[in-house]
Amino acid sequence: MADLTRHDFPEGFKWGIATSAAQIEGAAFEDGKGAEIWDIFARTPGKTFRGETPDVACDYYHKYPEQLRMMKELGFNSHRFSFSWARVMPDGTGRINQKGVDFYKRVIDEMLELGLTPNATLYHWDLPQELEYRGGFLNRDFAGWFTEYAEFMFRQFGDVIPLWATFNEPIATYVGYALGAFAPGRKLEKYGREANHNLLLAHGSVVKCFRSLFGEKRPELDLSRPNIGIVVDVWHHHPARPDDERDCAIAELENEKAYRSYLNPIFKGGYTGALLKYMADNDCMPDIRPGDFELIRQPLDFFGLNCYNRVVDSAEPQKIRETVEFAGGNYMDNGAEFYPKAIYDALFNVTKNWGVNVPVFITENGTYNCEEAIVTDAGGRERVHDVTRIRYLKGFIEWLKKAIDEGIDVRGYYVWSLLDNYEWPAASSMRFGLVHCDFGAEKYVLKDSALFMQKFLE
Ligand code: NOJ
Repeated sequence: MADLTRHDFPEGFKWGIATSAAQIEGAAFEDGKGAEIWDIFARTPGKTFRGETPDVACDYYHKYPEQLRMMKELGFNSHRFSFSWARVMPDGTGRINQKGVDFYKRVIDEMLELGLTPNATLYHWDLPQELEYRGGFLNRDFAGWFTEYAEFMFRQFGDVIPLWATFNEPIATYVGYALGAFAPGRKLEKYGREANHNLLLAHGSVVKCFRSLFGEKRPELDLSRPNIGIVVDVWHHHPARPDDERDCAIAELENEKAYRSYLNPIFKGGYTGALLKYMADNDCMPDIRPGDFELIRQPLDFFGLNCYNRVVDSAEPQKIRETVEFAGGNYMDNGAEFYPKAIYDALFNVTKNWGVNVPVFITENGTYNCEEAIVTDAGGRERVHDVTRIRYLKGFIEWLKKAIDEGIDVRGYYVWSLLDNYEWPAASSMRFGLVHCDFGAEKYVLKDSALFMQKFLE
């Protein structure tokens, strides 16, 4: 296939860079920002790589002008970012931190100036710690707290931001309450399911609030007006051996517990029978009250799909790679499977099977730890030759194009991410950037993948 360029995609397509507040902003205790759960979790021994914190990250708080300019220079026309709730409302409710609001004003003005369409997420995993002290997502009041914050943000920025998402990857909340691997580090399946349910209620409540401010959903997505959606990651689980019943059962249950536990309530109005059975059998049924699913199932304007890979499951996990691997290389050096068709499969899966009936944005795609060493070329210029990342991005973009050609309504694609940033528990040990930088962002080194994207977007 001849190399694709952006001209092979629909008119008006958004090509963007995705980020999140806690992973890039730094300035964790500056200008009145309140602590959020990752500030605390990262300080708990053993929770993050070398105990690294998001205190400094990419220092976007101070360096956003040059970082936004970089996006522009590489040819991107949109920027997906998130607001730090605790920067705006240090206690999670009530008191406003005007300096935090002013920061976002400056950032958004700069984006608009550069022609980068703002795509904002209200919640990307950084719950104000004050709210965690009040039970966090386990408190049914969460929906009210989140709606208070969201309404404030809508009133501030509603008119200049065309794309709003309530939550990014709700499963992170499950991981934080059921598995303990993410902040706040609680560890009970029942907590995970309860937290998820309260998250879904908060999503519905915020969409309702949005409609009361900006009017009912319109038949067509119109980026000259504010629109609202949610971002869910789909890592579809496949059985390693499709003819092995145990492998199939594991994969099926994982799909139920993960993306379907969000898509079914949001787009179809309830949990699936399989998930209800799982929750009943495992004593982790959340507190579901009459009217909950009506609240959760609000019409959305768009759906954000984060897509990185598929997952292969087996009753004999040590045999997965030997079952799935084929000569010629479907594994990358970072140990992950190279399966770019995941994006095509996920797009068909969500739209055909799980009720997604609105335009889709690929809100994240990218990969980590390719060839990340800095090398100096003959002219004394520093570069990173990340050929694996180029192969990955190219593969996903090709399968994305195929899905669009076959009729899936996709309106944009965002690379995760511009810079190597704070990768949660993996912190600095997982590099996802098109541009190399260390915490503090004292120096940027272009990777070949940045130049690949620049050429693609020319
Ligand atoms: C998903 C998350 O939204 C983002 O925060 C994370 O850094 C990337 N994927 C990469 O793992």
